[in-house]
Amino acid sequence: MKNTKEIISHLKDKGFVYSGSSIYGGLANSWDFGPLGTMLKNNIKDSWKTFFIDQEENIYHLDSSIILNSKVWKSSGHIDKFNDPMIDCKSCKERFRADHLIEEENNINVDSLSFEEQTKMIHKNIKCPNCKASNWTNVRAFELMFKTSSSKTNEDESNLYLRPETAQGVFINFNNVVNTLNAKVPFGIGQVGKAFRNEVTPGNFIFRTKEFEQLELEFFVEEKDANKSFEEYLQKIRNFLEILGLSSKNLKEYKVPKESLAHYSLGTTDFEYKFPFGWGEILGLANRGGFDLENHSKNSNEKMEYFDQANNRRYTPFVIETSMGVERLLFAIVSELLITEKTSDGEREVFKLPFNIAPYKASVLPLTNKIEKEAKDLFKLLLKENIGPINFSKGGSIGKRYRKQDAIGTMFAITYDFDSLKDKMVTIRHRDTMKQERIKIKGIKEYIFNNAR
Ligand code: GAP
Repeated sequence: MKNTKEIISHLKDKGFVYSGSSIYGGLANSWDFGPLGTMLKNNIKDSWKTFFIDQEENIYHLDSSIILNSKVWKSSGHIDKFNDPMIDCKSCKERFRADHLIEEENNINVDSLSFEEQTKMIHKNIKCPNCKASNWTNVRAFELMFKTSSSKTNEDESNLYLRPETAQGVFINFNNVVNTLNAKVPFGIGQVGKAFRNEVTPGNFIFRTKEFEQLELEFFVEEKDANKSFEEYLQKIRNFLEILGLSSKNLKEYKVPKESLAHYSLGTTDFEYKFPFGWGEILGLANRGGFDLENHSKNSNEKMEYFDQANNRRYTPFVIETSMGVERLLFAIVSELLITEKTSDGEREVFKLPFNIAPYKASVLPLTNKIEKEAKDLFKLLLKENIGPINFSKGGSIGKRYRKQDAIGTMFAITYDFDSLKDKMVTIRHRDTMKQERIKIKGIKEYIFNNAR
C-alpha cells in the first residue's frame, strides 16, 4: 500500500484532486475534486444508489435541503449534544481533540470520562504534539455544527445551521413519503448529499474534512424486526464494499461499546478500513430506535407515526441507519487499488478499479498521428454506444500511453493501426493482465461488456 503522500501526489498529478483555493494560498484541509475525481466520486455514489435503493423494491430517493429549520437540530439533539471535547495549548495556540490526545498517549477509550477527568489526565502527562509545552487550557465542548444566519428572518430563525448529517432531512419527510407514495413499513429512504462539521482537527487528506458527502439510508421497521434488519444490513454492507473492490483483510467491524454510542443510537457497528495512516471508520450501521421520529413528533406540529391499516394500530417505527462518507470510501479504494507493479521492463502504476467505478471505461489510441482522423471517427462512434465515458489518447509512444491509462484506471485500451484501415479490426489491451487481442470493430462493445470486471 502506498503512503498518504504518494497517494495525494498521484491523485493531484492525474487530475483526481486539487488543493482547495490554491490560487489564494489555499485553505487548510480543503480539497477540490478534479475531472477524474469527480467521475470516480459520481460512480461510487451511483453504485451506492443502485445497490441500496434501485435494486430494492421498497426504498425511496430523497433530496432534502442542506439548511433546515433550526428546531430540527434542537429535536435531533445536535444543538445540545453534538460536540467534541477540545483543548488548547496556551503556548502555541494549537487546538486538539482531547479524546484523541488521551487515546494516542494511553491507549484507552475516554468516552466514559468527564471533561474534568480528561483535563486532569492531559495536564498530568501529555505534552503538546506541536510545541512540546505542557501549558494547557481545560477541556471544553466544541460545537460541531456550522452556524450561519439569514438576514430577513425573525429572531428564532436567525441562527441557522448547515446540516451535520443528511438523515434529519429524511426523518422530517417521513410523513410526506408515507402519504404521497403509500409507503408501507418496512421501507427505506436513501439520500446522498453534502454534510458539514466544524471538526476540531481535520486531516489525513480527505479522511476528516469540514465539508463532505454522505450516503445515508434510513430503513423504517417495526421494533420487533429491528435486530433482523440490522443483521441483514451488515451483510449488504459487506457485499457492497466487495463490489467497490475493498478486500476483507483491510476491513474490520467494530461494535461500538455502550458508553461510546452517539446520543441517538441503541447499537452501532462501525466498519473500519486499514488506511495508510492506520485504521479509520468508513461507515456506520446504527439502530436509532424511535429516537428521531419520537422527538420530531413531540416538538413539531405533526405526529411522525405509522398507521398499520391491517392491524388498525399506530406506532413509531424503529430506524436502521446505514451511513457512509463518499470521500472516505474513495480514499479506501485508492489505498487498496492504486498499485505499483513489476513488469518485464521495470514497473508500472496501475489503478485496478472495478469497471463500474473507473472514470473511463476505455481509451482509443491511434498508433500514429497519421491515422488520427480514422481513430477519432471510431472514438466518436463508441461514445454513442452507451459503454460509458471513453477518452482519446494521442501523441507519444503507445507504451507510454498505455501506462497513462493504467494509472487512471481505464480498463481497455483500443489501438487503431494501419491494418485497421483495411481489416476493420483493432487491438484491445486489458489493463490488469496487459494481454492484447485483435478483435472486430463491430464487436468492441460486446467484448468490453463480456470482459469487464
Ligand atoms: N447519520 C449518522 C452519522 O452521520 P457519523 O458516524 O457521524 O454518523 C457517518 O457519520 C459517516 O460520515 C462516517 O462513517 C464517515 O464516513 C463520514 N464522515 C463523518 N464525519 C466526516 C468528516 N469530518 N469528514 C469526512 N467524512 C466524514
